[in-house]
Amino acid sequence: MCGIVGYVGSKPAAPIVLEGLKRLEYRGYDSAGMAYVRSDKLVVKQSAGKIRALEAKMNGAMPDVTVALGHTRWATHGAPTDVNAHPHADCSGEFAVVHNGIIENSALLKRQLIEKGHVFKSETDTEVLVHLIEDYYDGSLRDAVIRALENVEGTYGLGVVSSKEPGTLIAARNGSPLLLGIGEGENLFASDASAIVQHTKSVVCLDDGEVAEVTRDGYQIVDLDSVEVNKQVDTVEGDRDTIEKEGYPHFMLKEIFEQPRAIVDTMRGRLQEEEGTARLGGLNLNDKELQSINRIVLIACGTSWHAALIGEYMLEELSEMPTEVEYASEFRYRTPLVDENTLVIGISQSGETADTLAAIREAKARGARTLGIVNTVGSTIAREVDGGVYIHAGSEIGVASTKAFTCQVTALALLTLRFGRLRKLSVLQGREVVQALRKIPEQVSKILENAAAVEDLAERFSLAQHTLFLGRGYNFPVALEGALKLKEISYIHAEGYPAAEMKHGPIALIDHMMPVVCVAPQDAVYQKIVSNIQEVKARNGKVLAIVTEGDEDIAAIADYTFEIPETLDCLTPLLSVIPLQLLSYYVAVKRGCDVDQPRNLAKSVTVE
Ligand code: AGP
Repeated sequence: MCGIVGYVGSKPAAPIVLEGLKRLEYRGYDSAGMAYVRSDKLVVKQSAGKIRALEAKMNGAMPDVTVALGHTRWATHGAPTDVNAHPHADCSGEFAVVHNGIIENSALLKRQLIEKGHVFKSETDTEVLVHLIEDYYDGSLRDAVIRALENVEGTYGLGVVSSKEPGTLIAARNGSPLLLGIGEGENLFASDASAIVQHTKSVVCLDDGEVAEVTRDGYQIVDLDSVEVNKQVDTVEGDRDTIEKEGYPHFMLKEIFEQPRAIVDTMRGRLQEEEGTARLGGLNLNDKELQSINRIVLIACGTSWHAALIGEYMLEELSEMPTEVEYASEFRYRTPLVDENTLVIGISQSGETADTLAAIREAKARGARTLGIVNTVGSTIAREVDGGVYIHAGSEIGVASTKAFTCQVTALALLTLRFGRLRKLSVLQGREVVQALRKIPEQVSKILENAAAVEDLAERFSLAQHTLFLGRGYNFPVALEGALKLKEISYIHAEGYPAAEMKHGPIALIDHMMPVVCVAPQDAVYQKIVSNIQEVKARNGKVLAIVTEGDEDIAAIADYTFEIPETLDCLTPLLSVIPLQLLSYYVAVKRGCDVDQPRNLAKSVTVE
């Protein structure tokens, strides 16, 4: 996700916009830019890197203007370079836009605009917007923006400035957050209030399909039929820190609650229900090339490695594709047996993890094809692989990965559909998976509505010295992930195990002091894990079981249960992991740990 700031008033606009961008830098920080009108000429400044790089580019000489528009980027289309940084200007250099979101039909619109003679400078999807506005301008900037948006499919938080109307800024929203800041003799807009609270606490939140015309003396909001919309003015509570977290006490909790939206964004424009498959434009592999693949090796570290394990189960069960999972740090120093028919997939939130990057380079050097399942666009792994899938989870700031994990598993489900339908999966089976995937965001929301129940449970687990996590099949990796989350942020020693493995050793650890979390939805191995729970209870272990709604059998034997909605076996990890993320979060809070910046950890491990 990106950050947008616009100011129109009587004060020097550039420093106000720059300061606002710095406050939005947590949203995305790979490139930035600003546009303003000076002596009737539109000026656009673009810079790769953090805001300070843009400041350096403006070499401290703030333009003497009272209207300006700025952007800090989290790249989705096109690597973070100067030319791909926002704002983007049109052919005449009279219009400029900043955008937060994804224009799904940008390729088609770009082709049509090029046929009409427009010249594109960047690789972004966003640039089509400013050329459309240029095309439609006929004396009203707002009307031109509305007509341009009628052609657009996708999401946007949009800001527009033009030398044609130097005292006006246009803001528009569909899917990406944008709010107006209402002042005295000045007005602003931004992606969130943290960028404007130092100027005003009066805000108007734009809703989808709304366009605002903002001037120094006022603002008018209309819908896409140019019908005026009267909006309530709200008052922003709290200081900057709380606002960046949108009222959540920690980024980790905010990111846990962002999962329904993040999973929708991972699937956006990719599910093809009719064909029962998924469209993954970035693979750079056509059907024939995909069919020539006879082995997949998933490589990753940490939480991403747990997602890879779930991917292995999916790919083998639904597409009969021989699949292995490797710790990147081990793979890179072994003699991996790969060839041109092997697809090596690196999974990484940051796209910068040193071991995963090196393992990909090793695989490439040995002739394998490589793909990346990555969150950070333009990251090194994303640039070095042959193709990939961006998960679009948005920036993940909490060191303990949460939404990136569920989005990685979602992306692996899409990849499994793609391979499956080219191999053994029937269109009906494919449609069943597509329909179940569509339900996941709302099912995750349902689980999050019950977060308080996990907070109560956390009270009992926060005093433990050790905790065991058990799971089977698709939920064995979830048990590993639950243990990792608890270890990372609460510093409680925790281990995840395939439940059947317990009898081969770990069961010796169980007594009335040992909490055991069992991930036990009603899937193909349900009866087996019920027996494992009985084995734990026979040794007085304290069992918290994650069960399917309405499960009475386990409820009768476990000490505590937490219910999740029913879904296909292969998708249960997207639901069963949520209460484990919450449990680790609430336990860490109860133990007074620094949840977002846990000791000894870094968000991206760029060293070996
Ligand atoms: C997860 O909570 C940790 N931050 C860590 O295990 C992480 O998953 C690992 O370092 C891999 O990072 P990546 O996904 O950015 O490559």
